[in-house]
Amino acid sequence: MNGPESEETPLRRAVCPGSFDPVTNGHLDIIARASRLYDVVHVAVMINKSKQGLFTVEERIDLLRQVTAEYGNVKVEAFHGLLVDFCKQRDIPAIVKGLRAVSDFDYELQMAQMNNGLSGVETLFVPTNPPSWFVSACVFMAGAAGGGHVSHLVPPLVLEALTERLGER
Ligand code: PNS
Repeated sequence: MNGPESEETPLRRAVCPGSFDPVTNGHLDIIARASRLYDVVHVAVMINKSKQGLFTVEERIDLLRQVTAEYGNVKVEAFHGLLVDFCKQRDIPAIVKGLRAVSDFDYELQMAQMNNGLSGVETLFVPTNPPSWFVSACVFMAGAAGGGHVSHLVPPLVLEALTERLGER
């Protein structure tokens, strides 16, 4: 490190983006690990108007705020638009994402290269940890809707909300 830390040292910021419909233990693990590496972790709930979600954006934010409250340096927000614009507006130089398997890699690499080309923002990939490593939101929802054993994949609060929401259908 060059020179002593001073009060002017800027906060190190990163963003964990996603749909979070709903937040899983896999997401939470990545957010927790990012929160130990950065001063402030922004969790961006990216709004996709063409995709009907199970939870509203407000519900996703509420669940995320509750399950990340213990970290102390996580800020949850919704955003409509390009992730690079979210980063530019908040002076965030790094995107942190979990990589589950090599099948994630092609798409994630394209996004990382596009985002870097657009604005210089870096993407850092974190290998996901078991037991949540394999589950995509889509596979998770199929398991939950089919009555499968998913309670180890989401925080208890989310399981409660999920059980209630699926029961309404
Ligand atoms: O949880 P998901 O659905 O896998 O998250 C994907 C997400 C929201 C992170 C990604 O689609 C995204 O960054 N969308 C924002 C729009 C954007 O910036 N698109 C350009 C990517 S090159």
